[in-house]
Amino acid sequence: TIKKLINKLYKSNELEWEELLYILNHIGEYGKEYLIQKAHETRMKVYGDRVFMRGLIEFTNYCKKGCIYCGIGAFNKNVDRYRLGLEEILLCCDEGYKLGYRTFVLQGGEDNFYSDDKIEEIIEEIKNRYKDTAITLSIGEKSYESYEKYFNAGVDRYLLRHETASKELFEKIHTNSNYENRIQCLWNLKKIGYQVGAGFMVGIPTQTKEDLIKDIFFLKELDPEMVGIGPFIPHKDTVFHNEEGGTLEDTIIMLALLRLFLPYVLLPATTALGTIHPFGREQGIKAGANVVMPNLSPIGVREKYSLYNGKICTGDEAAECRGCIQNRIEKAGFSVDMSRGDNIKWRR
Ligand code: 5AD
Ligand code: FES
Repeated sequence: TIKKLINKLYKSNELEWEELLYILNHIGEYGKEYLIQKAHETRMKVYGDRVFMRGLIEFTNYCKKGCIYCGIGAFNKNVDRYRLGLEEILLCCDEGYKLGYRTFVLQGGEDNFYSDDKIEEIIEEIKNRYKDTAITLSIGEKSYESYEKYFNAGVDRYLLRHETASKELFEKIHTNSNYENRIQCLWNLKKIGYQVGAGFMVGIPTQTKEDLIKDIFFLKELDPEMVGIGPFIPHKDTVFHNEEGGTLEDTIIMLALLRLFLPYVLLPATTALGTIHPFGREQGIKAGANVVMPNLSPIGVREKYSLYNGKICTGDEAAECRGCIQNRIEKAGFSVDMSRGDNIKWRR
């Protein structure tokens, strides 16, 4: 029956709640392999063997929020805080552009230092210099008006993971954020015209299979262009420091399911996945993921953007992420695509 259900999902991109629950409860080794195979076939049909590269610039680790799982929450006094100025950000982009990147992802904590005017200035500068480049912004929950300003300044895409589609769990792990606002932000971003990225963590303490099904159903409804899925990983300075993290296996299953529910989605093999297993990203790619986001932040600040313990690509090896990841992708049997890599269903 597992095989039947996976076939149904493969053909129709849909399942009933009970069917999905059945898969999660009974998948087993054989079912997992079959699921991964079908997810792989789907990605090959839709995007081929290409893996899109995005250059990630983590430009501020100041954050006013207090997400209790996250290492850079406002409560954490052990963080060495930094902000990159316009010139520093442009230097990262210059380097990235020379390496071939045509998407820059500007990510940061919710940091009021960067007013809307400052963000617009940064965007306009980058867009002006690199006309063939897409910008993805990821700076958290903002008003409709702010999102509109960034969009008009030239931002193409916006990443805002919903983190979990269980309202109860969401509110347990966010001290000053509410679920309705988070979800409203995502709908606002869609309405304005961004390519939108939502997403969630796998293995959050107390998260259930039903919660994960809610994530899939919510994403099916939102129909975003991108979905970021990574394992929860404990951070030493948070209340979750002694908790278990999400597993490679569970994360891979969710990636493969997402590929089947949303065949056109851009699905990153996340840094968190690469952190919990030396070949986590490769396994993610084999299960339907088709994006990687190597770090372009200045080497000196990378360790400070510490959302969870053990983050890869922060040490001496980090200068070489571009080459490292290319090798890894090719060894896994896929090819690197340096183009803007828009969602193929996308029309502005
Ligand atoms: N483990 C895994 N992922 C985390 N994030 C934040 N903290 C953690 C953690 N401890 C993820 C969130 C956020 C993204 C930028 O990083 O999902 O949206
Ligand atoms: Fe960063 Fe391999 S991708 S070191």
